[in-house]
Amino acid sequence: MSRPVGIGVIGSTSTVARLAVVPAIERSRACVLAATASRSDASATYRSYEAILEDPAVEAVYIPLPNSLHRQWTERAAAAGRHVLCEKPLAPTAGDALAMAQACEAAGVRLMEAYMTHFHPRDRRLRRLVASGLLGEVIFASSAFTGVLDRPDDHRWHPEMGGGALLDVGIYCLSPLLSAFGVGPREAGSVEAVSTALRTGGSGVDASFSGWLGFGGGRAASFQCSFEAPERQQLELVGTSAALSLERPFTPGPEDRSIRLVRRDGTVESLSTEGADPYLAMVDHFAAVVRGRAEPERPPEDSVGLQRLVDRLLRSASVDRPGEAR
Ligand SMILES: NC(=O)c1ccc[n+]([C@@H]2O[C@H](COP(=O)([O-])OP(=O)(O)OC[C@H]3O[C@@H](n4cnc5c(N)ncnc54)[C@H](OP(=O)(O)O)[C@@H]3O)[C@@H](O)[C@H]2O)c1
Repeated sequence: MSRPVGIGVIGSTSTVARLAVVPAIERSRACVLAATASRSDASATYRSYEAILEDPAVEAVYIPLPNSLHRQWTERAAAAGRHVLCEKPLAPTAGDALAMAQACEAAGVRLMEAYMTHFHPRDRRLRRLVASGLLGEVIFASSAFTGVLDRPDDHRWHPEMGGGALLDVGIYCLSPLLSAFGVGPREAGSVEAVSTALRTGGSGVDASFSGWLGFGGGRAASFQCSFEAPERQQLELVGTSAALSLERPFTPGPEDRSIRLVRRDGTVESLSTEGADPYLAMVDHFAAVVRGRAEPERPPEDSVGLQRLVDRLLRSASVDRPGEAR
């Protein structure tokens, strides 16, 4: 194996960094935690985000900042010649996400969105099952990701920080709905029709957002996401031959190993898959991409494509967002 990729964390007190991604970097044999930068933690290697970009041991940065800061720090990292693993969503708008992708390409560094679900073996199996035609013609799909966000000062409640339920948890709901209908993230614009409903909260962000996507021929998907409803995750894909559903589809862990299959005749099976820490698989893949040992499984163009659908949904719900081109 090649030399481990030195990763610096920008905003190291972030919850997802502390609980999931830094432990994964520490367990990985493909990367190493080279340094941390924090505004608020005196024990971090650096107290300024700028300084970590000058550390020669830092070949790549992981950015778990509020969404509105992703573009600025990705562009700075790219200008300093550092590869970037940036938290989801890449940015609050498709325009910002595209600018990030272009900045990284121009600087000759890799950019990857830290969208870990995709790297769990059960998610891979689900995509293979759908692609195999097991479901027959897919006619319905539905997803939900809700949970209570009861910290009023959290950046997710603020529009200028790129807050809102759709950007935070809704993006998990959208990807599997598109793939169920054979639509890749880059073709998300080909969704025929969208319809939306929202409740606002905080300083005007979407506290609850639900939507309907029409794929033509009577085929449709629906989703719900919320900061003000009990913790739930659901995914169900329904075709003319069979239906598939999963528990905890979006933040699976090593123990999430089954997919429920209901066949046309009503028989029910539990398909078992492997479990894994998707954060570890994600950082391993990022390191392989940085070293040129793998092509990105989810390139930035996919993240930008999905973001275009998010923009369309937010426009359809008349959500005003700082910085979005109309
Ligand atoms: N992939 C996943 O499973 C997952 C899960 C949750 C969140 N996320 C994503 O990760 C990102 C961060 O989410 P989080 O829940 O980790 O957030 P968080 O706990 O609030 O951490 C964000 C960190 O950003 C830094 N920061 C810099 N400027 C800030 C500002 N003006 N306000 C608040 N924090 C600021 C702070 O670190 P320092 O003080 O150390 O500099 C802070 O601890 C978001 O993009 C979110 O969508 C991903």
